[in-house]
Amino acid sequence: MRGFVRETRLSPEDLVYPIFVTVGEDVRNPVASMPGIFQLSINHAVAEAQRVHDLGIPAVLLFGLPEQKDEAATGAYDPEGIVQLATRAIKEAAPELLVITDVCLCEYTSHGHCGVVEKETGEVLNDVSLELLARTAASQAEAGADIVAPSDMMDGRVAAIRSELDNEGFENTPIMAYAAKYASAFYGPFREAADSAPQFGDRRSYQMDPANAREALVETGLDVEEGADIVMVKPALPYLDVLRRVRETTDLPVAAYNVSGEYAMVKAAAQNGWIDEQRAILEALTGIKRAGADIIITYHAPDVARWLSG
Ligand code: PBG
Repeated sequence: MRGFVRETRLSPEDLVYPIFVTVGEDVRNPVASMPGIFQLSINHAVAEAQRVHDLGIPAVLLFGLPEQKDEAATGAYDPEGIVQLATRAIKEAAPELLVITDVCLCEYTSHGHCGVVEKETGEVLNDVSLELLARTAASQAEAGADIVAPSDMMDGRVAAIRSELDNEGFENTPIMAYAAKYASAFYGPFREAADSAPQFGDRRSYQMDPANAREALVETGLDVEEGADIVMVKPALPYLDVLRRVRETTDLPVAAYNVSGEYAMVKAAAQNGWIDEQRAILEALTGIKRAGADIIITYHAPDVARWLSG
């Protein structure tokens, strides 16, 4: 009876699994703050993508750790960059698995900011950054990315990326926009995983104030107008009210990102025997879906897929 009247059903098909791809051969670096998560060289990333596909998870989200970082984030839009190479390799091994690529500069800039920084002032330059972000997205689409996902939060980036994709012949490549992305303490472990912590200052000039919910609707509206195909709320659990409101204001698919800090908290408590890991994770993800997410990006994806099918 209990299952018969259940309103919300979690399925492996709801999930997206993030993968951190690094240069080098045969690398599998554990991320200390994210037990179970590794920085993977391309051969391991392909194996992981294959495993994820076999579990019924429809998509992976790729983040890259380049060979070198510089002020112009060259590695982000290099046709032979780490994400471009990984995308080609994964699409070749598992053509049906969707490859979503992160479009941001923070993993590729020497200072770790999501855009180009003016030297004298340390200010992030919005419009100069747009051009590089658009080039990044186009190079990823060229490499075979099925969806591009701008996470930088520069103003006007969805429009800039849409127009570049269209010009380069990728009219059919959708954009999953991080529409409501908060300046959150819960990204801490990710910055270790992606080696993308800002070297000075913080991201508050381009990410949102956690106190603001209406602003999320404004941001989402802009992204939709600019051509977003999927909108995202991030992090997930502290922002379920925002997720619900975004769900109610758009008919586009809505994604929620269950971020690194949310993952780390559950893992740490479970390792201490303080909570039941499986129940806690299934409850949290069911809550995210109940709040309105069509798509959940989560580091728990393979575990969850296994539990749901076993
Ligand atoms: C890059 C980016 C971040 C995350 C996804 N893309 C970090 C940040 O904004 O500092 C965080 C994801 C996570 O914490 O799991 N801009």
